[in-house]
Parts: sequence; C-alpha cells; structure tokens
Amino acid sequence: MGIAIVGAGGHGRVAFECLRLSRSDNPDVVFYDDRYEQIGEIEGIPVRGPISALFDADKFELVFVAIGDNVLRYEITQRLQRAGRTLISIIHPHTAISPRSRIAVGTIAVAGTVVNFGAQVGRGVILNTLSSVGHDCIVQDFAQLASGVNLGGAAVIEEGVFVGIGAKVAPETTIGAWSVVGAGSIVLEDQPPRSFCCGAPARVIRPLGDDELPHPKGSST
Ligand SMILES: CC(C)(COP(=O)(O)OP(=O)(O)OC[C@H]1O[C@@H](n2cnc3c(N)ncnc32)[C@H](O)[C@@H]1OP(=O)(O)O)[C@@H](O)C(=O)NCCC(=O)NCCS
Repeated sequence: MGIAIVGAGGHGRVAFECLRLSRSDNPDVVFYDDRYEQIGEIEGIPVRGPISALFDADKFELVFVAIGDNVLRYEITQRLQRAGRTLISIIHPHTAISPRSRIAVGTIAVAGTVVNFGAQVGRGVILNTLSSVGHDCIVQDFAQLASGVNLGGAAVIEEGVFVGIGAKVAPETTIGAWSVVGAGSIVLEDQPPRSFCCGAPARVIRPLGDDELPHPKGSST
C-alpha cells in the first residue's frame, strides 16, 4: 500500500529518508505539496499535487504529515483523519526509544532521538535530530522539539508547543499549550500557555496572538 507524505520541504525530505531507512518493504511513496508544480520531484519521487487533493483521493490511505508549522500540521492532520486517512509514525532506525514509552500515530523521531522509560509522546509530534525526552515526560499532540532539545524527567510539553533548537527544559516543568520556547533557552520554571518565552533562565517575553501561534521563523517547512 502506498504512503503519501504531506509536505515536500526540508522536513518532508527528512521524513522520506527516515521512512526509507526504517522499512525493509520499500513501500510506494508520493509527496503532496501546494508547491507541487515548482518542486516537481524529490529523488525521482513525484510531488503529485496540492495537499487538498488528498482530502478526497482514496488511493493513498496511509499518510504522514511532514509540515514543520505546528498549527498547519494540526489543521491538516484533523482534515485527513476526518477524510478517513490512516496516519503512520516514522521512527529513524538510529534512535533509542524505551519499550516502556508510548508514541502515538503521526509522530516522527529523527536520527539520534532518545525517549526514556515511561515517557508518553502524542500524535503528530516532531522529535527532531538529537532531541531527548526524559523519563516520564509527557509531550502532547502536535508539539515539536527542535534539534538538540533536552527535556528533564517528568517535564510536560503541552499541545502544539514549539521548543527551539538546543533549548533545555528542567525536570517536572510544564510548558503551556501553543507556546514557543526560544532557541537555546534554559527553562527552569513552568511557562504559561500561548506565550513566547526565552533566555536563561527563560522568562515570558510576550503573549502570543492567534496569528503568531507556533509557526516561528525558521521552523522546518
Ligand atoms: C522563536 C524565535 C523564532 C523568536 O525569534 P524572534 O522572532 O526574533 O523573536 P522576537 O523578535 O519576538 O524577539 C523579542 C526579543 O527576544 C529576544 N530573543 C528572541 N529569541 C531569543 C532567544 N532564543 N534567546 C534569547 N533571546 C531571544 C530578541 O533578541 C528580542 O529582544 P529585544 O526586544 O531586546 O530586541 C527564536 O527565538 C527561535 O527559537 N529561533 C530558532 C527556531 C528553531 O529552533 N528552528 C529550528 C527548526 S529545526
């Protein structure tokens, strides 16, 4: 059965490679992306049409949404699930995922990711290169840990949060839903929902309006 990767930007290409490396059955893969005419193909794999084509096409039942923007990933995933598509997860073969952790559908763990004992990772999450999820952490749906992010034990990353590259979150600390943690920050205390926090130690810089929710500059396409 074919697999459709939604999004043919940088993140889509990474997802494609992780998928190929993680499976021996060499499944048929196609991309869908609104820039399909411009992109054309990736490594000989066609970018077949705009994302909306997948909402009614019935050929590709299995999908992976490879869009770095958390809000867009959430919205497109909801529509695809309503259209009856089945989400797959992609786990790069060079990850260390505890058998006592749980990872929900639609999530990707890129090379070097570590997920420790008792951690729970939700739907549509991105665990990017060399990120680590400590024991008993909760990473809720559509959150994203950029490359090199480290979560201490029992930290909670609520829905849709974007944690920027290299940031660290102390044990038992909660980042509220749809917040953004700036690159390189050290988060030592709970942070409220829908806010932009950064620095070491991290402080709230400002609340985030609806038009600023986690699709920050530099998030993967
Ligand atoms: C979230 C992010 C994009 C915000 O950057 P921004 O849009 O430039 O932020 P703002 O313009 O609102 O900055 C507000 C203030 O916070 C400061 N600031 C922004 N990001 C900061 C950070 N990560 N650490 C410390 N201070 C930061 C700015 O310098 C500015 O300070 P000033 O008012 O004294 O000038 C940025 O912090 C970030 O994380 N970038 C990396 C994204 C990433 O990890 N991509 C990887 C994908 S794999």
